[in-house]
Amino acid sequence: MTRTAAVLAILILGSGAPLKAQGPIERPLPWKPVIIEPTEREFLNSCASCHGMDGTGAGFLTRLFRGVDPGDLTQLSVRNDGTFPIERVFSVIDGRAEVAAHGDRKMPVWGDRYMNAAMSEYGPDEINETRVRNRIYELVHYLQSIQAVDAEPEN
Ligand code: HEC
Repeated sequence: MTRTAAVLAILILGSGAPLKAQGPIERPLPWKPVIIEPTEREFLNSCASCHGMDGTGAGFLTRLFRGVDPGDLTQLSVRNDGTFPIERVFSVIDGRAEVAAHGDRKMPVWGDRYMNAAMSEYGPDEINETRVRNRIYELVHYLQSIQAVDAEPEN
């Protein structure tokens, strides 16, 4: 491989910046009931390492750090009497309020990460907070779309 080809290869292979917003992020709230493909990509980039590709909790990092149980993200509705707990899921992913209240946690604080990403992409901008929230809402909606259907009640 020539030197130029090597440099190109590094640029291409190294360009997967998972925290950078992919696709349009200025979607007005409330989110639309369509699964947009960039959100699934974001889940695979940022969440699957711990939560597994399908959200059921078998990511490679989880297997690496035994004793860490990220829970099964397809069971959020079932565990909440059949209703998807939108607000709780939003605040768990965001994490900023939660960490302020309870201190450290194993799950990364995505609110801070997405804010840092917005700051480095747009600089200090008053709609950065909206950008952060849009990204979190899209993940919330994605999780809602992968909920397991309620099991038949046993008689
Ligand atoms: C470094 C590993 C890791 C990554 C990456 C990660 N999580 Fe988590 N997540 C956890 C752990 C561990 C928990 C369990 C609570 C705790 O210990 O913080 C959790 C809990 C959750 C919960 C609450 C589950 C419940 O049963 O109430 C949600 C929702 C969630 N994560 C969503 C996400 C989303 C969305 C992403 C990607 C943007 C993500 N997580 C990335 C480790 C991770």
